Amino acid sequence: PRVAVIVVAAGSGTRLGAGSPKAFVGIDAHTILRHALRGVFDAPEAQVIVVAPDDRVGDATTEALGAAGGRRDLVSVVAGGATRQESVAAGLAAVWADVEIVLVHDAARALTPPDVFARVIDAVAEGSDAVIPVLPVVDTLKRVADDVVVEPVDRSVLAAAQTPQGFRRAVLDGAYRDAAADHTDDAALLQSAGTQVRTVPGDERAFKITTTADLEHARALVEPVPR
Ligand code: C5P
Repeated sequence: PRVAVIVVAAGSGTRLGAGSPKAFVGIDAHTILRHALRGVFDAPEAQVIVVAPDDRVGDATTEALGAAGGRRDLVSVVAGGATRQESVAAGLAAVWADVEIVLVHDAARALTPPDVFARVIDAVAEGSDAVIPVLPVVDTLKRVADDVVVEPVDRSVLAAAQTPQGFRRAVLDGAYRDAAADHTDDAALLQSAGTQVRTVPGDERAFKITTTADLEHARALVEPVPR
């Protein structure tokens, strides 16, 4: 099947406080976006659409072409929107006509291993309309209100959602065409439209770089760049 991966990288990175959009913050010699794209290009072949802040489309193009190696023909870069959902919609508009499976991936999950992409693509190819990688929740969870614990929450029935999330293209297009409310991920949008969402195992290395502690963790995981 023909596959496209939309890499959303148009967030401001306010919580990281690095002063530039998060995707362009360095992990080592390379940015978060460049690391994320390295994983995408090591995964099964796909059209790759980078969604960048509108004033960083040129920088994102440089990063994407650097990561693409000999496959520059697979790369498109478009400007994002004010919310993640608007950014995904902008990416969807650039998907080639013959693509059947669309993955949506957070650039902030920069160290996601290529086999997570393969698992998600395979599950959609085998017939699921919507597939997300998940990890079990390790923390003990509480429902709280006004600084008081209301009740414990059974973590065994919960999962932490990651990306890349994969979708049958026609189903994702339809959900975006009809989207009303804003959702924090595409699985939530699809589920609100009545689509069953299947899970596959995620990976700890697919954590989202959100805070400075996450960035330090990412820095510790990447090998030093040889001189
Ligand atoms: O803010 P958060 O880390 O949850 O964003 C998840 C992903 O969505 C990031 O990769 C970010 O760049 C992207 N995003 C976007 N456009 C927005 C907001 C977030 O592409 N307006």
